[in-house]
Amino acid sequence: MGQVRFIEKVWKSRPTMEGAGVRLNRAFGFYEVPLFDPFLLLDDFGSDNPDDYLAGFPWHPHRGIETITYMLEGEVKHGDSLGNSGTIGTGDVQWMTAGSGIIHEEMPHRQEGLMAGFQLWANLPASDKMMDPRYRDIRSDEIPEVSLGNSAKAKVIAGKVNGAKGPVQDVVTDPEYLDVTVNPKSEFRHKVERGHNVFAYVFEGEAYFDEEKKEICGIRNVILFGDGDEVLISTGDKHARFLLISGKPINEPVAWQGPIVMNTKEELQIAFGEYRNGTFIKHG
Ligand code: FE2
Repeated sequence: MGQVRFIEKVWKSRPTMEGAGVRLNRAFGFYEVPLFDPFLLLDDFGSDNPDDYLAGFPWHPHRGIETITYMLEGEVKHGDSLGNSGTIGTGDVQWMTAGSGIIHEEMPHRQEGLMAGFQLWANLPASDKMMDPRYRDIRSDEIPEVSLGNSAKAKVIAGKVNGAKGPVQDVVTDPEYLDVTVNPKSEFRHKVERGHNVFAYVFEGEAYFDEEKKEICGIRNVILFGDGDEVLISTGDKHARFLLISGKPINEPVAWQGPIVMNTKEELQIAFGEYRNGTFIKHG
């Protein structure tokens, strides 16, 4: 046991319009750099109204980052400049490393009812920004769900809980990506690496995210932790379900314009110039 992390900051995700007219809630993004380093952005695209999401994200480029899409409900069709295509369905994860560049589209399927999920952007260090693009498509049944007695359960997308390892490994920033449910009147204690940035994003119920139980955090709250060795999350009468994500900071300059994130303005200019003249794709 070590030092329990305290809460550094809590706020609510903000309604944002993205893509071709998708209404979503942004937990953090451009204006929060470098607070979440190595993470750049988290979008929560839950809606039960197809008008909010059907416009989707038509063809656009990415370079220098990874985008991690986790579907809670519904389907998104994906296609890219390398000829890959497929569907990410309920419970699935797509961990896409754009590296030197991909051009892709992400289009929600028309269907009844709810569409819900998250897209996280993780930065790449300078040494990997121009790596070959890589996809990891993970079906929901490949994601271990660990039961922690009567108190909690966790889906392990990346990282480790009670010896169960997530399917996403070999990422430079050593990320941990968990979908945690804590039952009512229960506690969840989890070891994290000292020095890594750690945050939670609540999407069901409510919980306390520090030892003193100063503030109850509910749906759409993003909780950024201070440093320490573990997190302690506890519930009252309601359960809570949240993402718990951590990673090793890159500590490099960030030059960010739209879907491209590099270290310098010059690299951004080169990227957009290449996109305009058709030399953006380096691989495939
Ligand atoms: Fe994208």
